[in-house]
Amino acid sequence: MVWSDGAMDPVEISRQEAGPGCALLTARVLGAVVGSVVLAAPGESSDWPLAPVLRDLAVEPLWRRRGIGTALVAAAESLAAEQGAELLVLEVDAGNGAAARLYAALGWLPVGEPSGYSYASLNEDGVATLVQVERQSWAKALMDDAG
Ligand SMILES: CC(C)(COP(=O)(O)OP(=O)(O)OC[C@H]1O[C@@H](n2cnc3c(N)ncnc32)[C@H](O)[C@@H]1OP(=O)(O)O)[C@@H](O)C(=O)NCCC(=O)NCCS
Repeated sequence: MVWSDGAMDPVEISRQEAGPGCALLTARVLGAVVGSVVLAAPGESSDWPLAPVLRDLAVEPLWRRRGIGTALVAAAESLAAEQGAELLVLEVDAGNGAAARLYAALGWLPVGEPSGYSYASLNEDGVATLVQVERQSWAKALMDDAG
């Protein structure tokens, strides 16, 4: 799949298997990797066990705000729809306004209340600290064009 808004070199999105039922979509410009996202098989979300999960969306900092994140998510949505999914879900850190705006613009909706989780992180001195994060679930119903 090749995508371009005409203002820069075309972005090529390729797909590779990344485990059972799991696909890694990679965006490249002139062969260089500029972003990626994972479409994971259903089962990762305890709230929506039948829905595939979109995760690990990231675009190289120098390539942001050029539509690459949007193109990757749209490609993952198309792939999920091709595979017969009716619903796609993801989680975003509640403070990640950039990602939230991107998903909202593509028609995703926040669902339920944010939930907190914590993880251990090593600081620059090698001391473990507990990081607490609020995560918001988002969902998108995929259209069935066949019907
Ligand atoms: C979030 C991320 C993937 C966006 O990628 P991107 O290629 O810059 O996104 P797009 O260019 O498609 O942006 C689409 C829209 O999202 C919103 N958006 C994206 N980045 C934004 C920012 N830093 N601040 C405000 N809005 C932002 C804007 O509405 C933007 O449209 P516009 O540029 O026409 O205003 C990228 O910032 C990133 O890799 N962040 C670090 C990892 C991360 O947070 N991943 C999401 C995990 S759920």
